[in-house]
Amino acid sequence: MKYKAVRGMQDILPQDVGIWHWLERKARSDLESYGFKEIRTPLLEDTSVFVRSIGETTDIVKKEMYTFKDKKERSLTLRPEGTAPIVRSYIEHSLDKAQYGSKLYYIGPMFRSERPQKGRTRQFHQIGIEVFGSKSPYADVEVIMQLRNMLNSFELEDFTINLNSLGCNEVCKPKFTDKLQKYLEGKESRLCEDCKRRVKINVLRVLDCKKDSCIQVVRNAPSTLDGLCDPCKDHFDRVKEGLSKLKLINIKETKNLVRGLDYYTGTVFEVTHPDLGAQDAIGAGGRYDNLVKDMGGPDTPAIGYALGMERIILALRNKTTSTDTKSEGVVYIATLGDMGKIEGLKLADEIRKALPSVVLLTSTMESSLKSQLRAADRQGAKLVLILGEDEIEKGEVLLKDMIKKDQVPVKRKDIVEELKKRLKC
Ligand code: HAM
Repeated sequence: MKYKAVRGMQDILPQDVGIWHWLERKARSDLESYGFKEIRTPLLEDTSVFVRSIGETTDIVKKEMYTFKDKKERSLTLRPEGTAPIVRSYIEHSLDKAQYGSKLYYIGPMFRSERPQKGRTRQFHQIGIEVFGSKSPYADVEVIMQLRNMLNSFELEDFTINLNSLGCNEVCKPKFTDKLQKYLEGKESRLCEDCKRRVKINVLRVLDCKKDSCIQVVRNAPSTLDGLCDPCKDHFDRVKEGLSKLKLINIKETKNLVRGLDYYTGTVFEVTHPDLGAQDAIGAGGRYDNLVKDMGGPDTPAIGYALGMERIILALRNKTTSTDTKSEGVVYIATLGDMGKIEGLKLADEIRKALPSVVLLTSTMESSLKSQLRAADRQGAKLVLILGEDEIEKGEVLLKDMIKKDQVPVKRKDIVEELKKRLKC
């Protein structure tokens, strides 16, 4: 039997991992400069954590979760998203009282059993943030501004931030549900089978359906924005005004943007990128002012978003700028004979201590110089240090430049200085 990765789940191979490290590094440094602290929750949660928050009638809960029973018959689920586990953790550990509880970020894998296609996998990775405790529209503005700045720091510019407001659970959403159900009356036969059911149980989801027939039906549907209550309208107006005063471009008010998770209230947004085809959302988020309370915690407003890392990498694929792993810093030590091997390890130790940013590779194979040089080339070495018996006797190292294709003897005691000069480190 030939083993293969599970369908929809991908290996990230050594030749591709550089861009993942780059993205994670940039995200961490950006988020920490805004005062965010990382939180790491388990990959498995009690299934009810997701059912309660994302919503029983959503596609994620109904069709896409990896749910199973453990030996004690407890129902567990591989997390399909990060917000619900973080809210669970926020409540369990009373993070509302903790020094670092209000601005959290996470980076890690999520699992959804969707049909795999370009930009859609069954294990995917998100970079996300959750901000707890502020009802102010300026919290929305700051989150969207931080999101824009972080995408820019990833060297992404051609994206659009689609913006909408769903209003509150108390007044706006029930009123809109009614209005939308009335609009859809008599049009049910043109909806897909799923949406026929959604009309009765969770009509907002019809606006989210990606089937052509349903898109046609809802084209002229009422907008959530038309029925907002005064406080929700005022909140959304102030968010838009703030974004426009900060000259945040690429923002587009998008009626019918409702998001596929039930916990949202008020401001919602989705970032799309033109190079991605059908799965064009590189990230999305919004307010969820009722969720902490609904899950048993204190009444705490909140807002957050998550970016899909695979999709960001797809959008970056045509760029070959700072995301490339550079080979300038790679030095290879080729050694001959037993003495050479030991001296090589000693030399590597000295160089690693003096120049920690240099990637230093040593040959532990007892192979010819020619095959060691081939290995050095394959691994992207710019410089090779050659140590054989002759060099050891003379107290020298032969330094070979793999790009200029020349070599010079260097005194062993001068080698660190010489590397510093040549690698500019
Ligand atoms: P979401 O819209 O379900 O929101 O996912 C956010 C992003 O994750 C999507 O825009 C997309 O880039 C990526 N994504 C989702 N599913 C897949 C998939 N199957 N394959 C590849 N990428 C995918 C949430 O998850 C919310 N928790 C976001 C949030 C945080 N809202 C408030 N706080």
